[in-house]
Amino acid sequence: MKVNDVVSYVVEGQIAVITVDSPPVNALSNAVRQGVAGAIQTAIGDTGVGAIVLICEGRTFFAGADITELGKPPVEPTLRNLQLVLENASKPIVAAIHGTALGGGLELALVAHYRIAVPSAKCGLPEVNLGLLPGAGGTQRLPRVVGVAKALEMVTSGTPIAATAAKEAGLLDELAREGDLRADAIALAQRVLDERRPLRKVRDRTDRLDEARGKPEIFADFRKANARKFRGFLAPEYNIRCIEATLVDQPFDEAMAYERSLFNELMADSQSAAQRHVFFAERQAAKVDGLPADTATLPIAKVGVIGAGTMGGGIAMNFANAGIPVTIVETSEEALFRGLRIIRGNYETTAAKGKMKASDVDTRMGLLTGSVAMEDLADCDLIIEAVFEQIDVKRAVFGKLDAIAKSGSILATNTSYLDIDDIAAATKRPADVVGLHFFSPANVMKLLEVVRTKDTKPEIVLTAMKLARTIGKIGVLVGNGYGFVGNRILAARNAQADALVLEGATPWAVDKVLYDFGFAMGHFQMRDLVGLDVGWNAKATASANVREILNEMGRHGQKTRGGYYDYDDKRVQTPSPVAMQVIEDFAAKQGIVRREVSDAEIHDRILFAMVNEGARILDEGIAARASDVDIVWVTGYGWPKYRGGPMFWADLQGLPTVLETLNALKAAHGDAFTPSPLIERLVAQGKGLKDA
Ligand code: 3HC
Ligand code: NAI
Repeated sequence: MKVNDVVSYVVEGQIAVITVDSPPVNALSNAVRQGVAGAIQTAIGDTGVGAIVLICEGRTFFAGADITELGKPPVEPTLRNLQLVLENASKPIVAAIHGTALGGGLELALVAHYRIAVPSAKCGLPEVNLGLLPGAGGTQRLPRVVGVAKALEMVTSGTPIAATAAKEAGLLDELAREGDLRADAIALAQRVLDERRPLRKVRDRTDRLDEARGKPEIFADFRKANARKFRGFLAPEYNIRCIEATLVDQPFDEAMAYERSLFNELMADSQSAAQRHVFFAERQAAKVDGLPADTATLPIAKVGVIGAGTMGGGIAMNFANAGIPVTIVETSEEALFRGLRIIRGNYETTAAKGKMKASDVDTRMGLLTGSVAMEDLADCDLIIEAVFEQIDVKRAVFGKLDAIAKSGSILATNTSYLDIDDIAAATKRPADVVGLHFFSPANVMKLLEVVRTKDTKPEIVLTAMKLARTIGKIGVLVGNGYGFVGNRILAARNAQADALVLEGATPWAVDKVLYDFGFAMGHFQMRDLVGLDVGWNAKATASANVREILNEMGRHGQKTRGGYYDYDDKRVQTPSPVAMQVIEDFAAKQGIVRREVSDAEIHDRILFAMVNEGARILDEGIAARASDVDIVWVTGYGWPKYRGGPMFWADLQGLPTVLETLNALKAAHGDAFTPSPLIERLVAQGKGLKDA
């Protein structure tokens, strides 16, 4: 029997089976909640029914509250009221879990009287990733079944645990046979009935809480151990407070009211709005608008990588990790050997940390073949060039590749700044050329800018975006322009950071402002980490600026124990007097009279320059959506997730304020701050960058 569009009800013997089918992920939308509540009432009223099974169709059990409904006026039954219906039901309810029981989904399972899952299922409370806490009793019920320590870890990391671990932790009563969840859940319900097992309510349990009573250090230690990870974020601390509240001697409903009030506070805060924006922006980025409907993807069974340096090695690892064989080409046996040795070293380190099986080191290395002959790339479906960042070198490589690669092969470049049309013009097949801009370290960083040139074929665009997902990256489609999206905004930040230190700020003052804003590290710290010599062309730019002078002095950053900072053997940094002297001397040479520069000036010049550049990029169509710009900076450059990315941040200030600030900065510091015409247009129309 259909209860509504998404919920159905059937009775098998004494067991009522309520099935929810609301693609894609059975989020607990209004319709789902209404349907489930109605079905439970039916089952309770049905005298032939002894027990109830709640199960989902499709790829997963409930993946949580419907995030699109968060923040909107609640529609009855609310999730909490639905939970009351289940928890207080007069007949036992079994939650049958497959896929992922997440957030409100797991919270709903926690009010069922029994829980069963297939071994491949996962259970978790990921609300923290949305800047929230589980607002339907998750912080109160989870510790009652898995204990305080485990619950703390689960709610603050948001990482789901496997069903086998969930069974061990007490979260699940039974594991079902893979593929037989429905039958096994019905059998469990029948056993509960036959054995007259009680209507067990998690809320009534205190045994797991008792273990933690009188041990406040559990919380203090946990906060201390995670201080760095949680810095700046509100939600982890609020989650911890709710779990702390489980140990306070108060009625369950009061603790629930406390959880609700903290949930509401988080919901109203810009951090959660930012993190929810990032969740959807990430999924939006995967969608490519405007491709012909019949565009097909191309198979990628074998990959070639040219250059086994910093980037080439990391890029190759991504494919080996996904089980795709890679041929790596270098200019000499020596360079090849060195590159492969570094890759093996990386794998061995991962295995030593227990994050990978020792036997997988050889399996993955077995997928990598080294060569010094580009001819060995002839049968590759995709070839990625990662040689020196010099246009003549890249053009030579592509010219040669054109003669070697099979027809239909995708020819990609990992260039950071060069014009890909120019590189493509070295071949007779520019439509087959695309940019795949990985970030360093390429085996770790999630971002992949997929650069479409004026000629790139739709199939290749689509294939590259899909490939990003295959190798665990977040692909963002961008246009071919200097620095694409990420590095172009970085260049705007560079220009201001460099100007500020010449005018009177110290590099450490600039770094502190960015660190306090929420970046994991400051601008000059990042430069020192990456290496000041990356992209340095000694002849072209002799003594042209502070960075080049530091390079000429052999101060390339952390790797030489000195850059803007000095580093000891453990790489602990101190501000470098040598660098400061170079800055002062260079400023004097330029005729700049250094002055007091306030933190507010650093903040505004750097951040608004970035916003303005982002808007220009959007206006030029180099990025398709404001949210794509945000994803690039959040996933590739450490823009704090709780600030949603530069475009979201600008909209949050209010675009009229942004325009006013840019005009004021322009009056004080010149044309670099000329507002992007897009910002002016949007302000005139009363719109935000999100509407661009
Ligand atoms: N609400 C609304 N839409 C959701 C959703 C949710 N909870 N979860 C996923 N979706 C949508 C996605 O936006 C996407 O839509 P699209 O196809 O239009 O882009 C679609 O479902 C498929 O999602 P994915 O591409 O992410 O699919 P995957 O198979 O890779 O992942 C998933 C599935 C693991 C369930 C993943 O989507 C996920 O992590 N979802 C979020 C889970 C979550 O955070 N739940 C907590 C919600 S907050 C809450 O419950 C509050 C409560 O405590 C009161
Ligand atoms: P690298 O100097 O570490 O490695 C380049 C490698 O290419 C060297 O091992 C060199 O021997 C090899 N090589 C040069 N010419 C070759 C040829 N004709 N055939 C085969 N191999 C050849 O440089 P890195 O840092 O890996 O950079 C490579 C590319 O990636 C550049 O275009 C760079 O702009 C880009 N990039 C670099 C990032 C970084 O952080 N290092 C980040 C993103 C992109």
